[in-house]
Amino acid sequence: MSRNKPCLLELPKIGEKDIGFISLIEGENLLPFVPKRIYWVYDVLNGNKRGGHYHNDLEQIIICLSGKLIISLESVSGEKDRYILNHPSKALYLPAKYWRDIVFEDNAVLLCIASENYNENDYIRDYKEFLNKN
Ligand code: TYD
Repeated sequence: MSRNKPCLLELPKIGEKDIGFISLIEGENLLPFVPKRIYWVYDVLNGNKRGGHYHNDLEQIIICLSGKLIISLESVSGEKDRYILNHPSKALYLPAKYWRDIVFEDNAVLLCIASENYNENDYIRDYKEFLNKN
């Protein structure tokens, strides 16, 4: 996995229809960093947008535990990508240095596995300031 490019991960899925499933992330092969923080975002009104920022150092794995997330990313060189997470067996690796906007749909619950502790100094929250990094 490249540490510079976002990438969708198909997680292992253990189980069957009758009893349900377990998905997991285990070991360095699937996780390119040692997690320092895990948080989750929930009770977001349908269609609301969060994110709206950039991280200088933080790497993240995003999983949509329920509902649907539409994640729009923009690199400092202006490449734009859109990812849809709508199943808990998928994850998005989100490297540092991307602007992200995330729309929450269908009572989405977002789980984030983060490479660093919370640090407001790692954020750029002003889109114009982000564009000036080009
Ligand atoms: P933010 O990262 O902007 O969340 P989102 O992208 O989902 O809108 O964080 C929202 C607020 O919560 C902001 O004031 C910072 C605070 N916060 C913490 O204090 N600790 C954390 O670990 C996180 C993720 C956010």
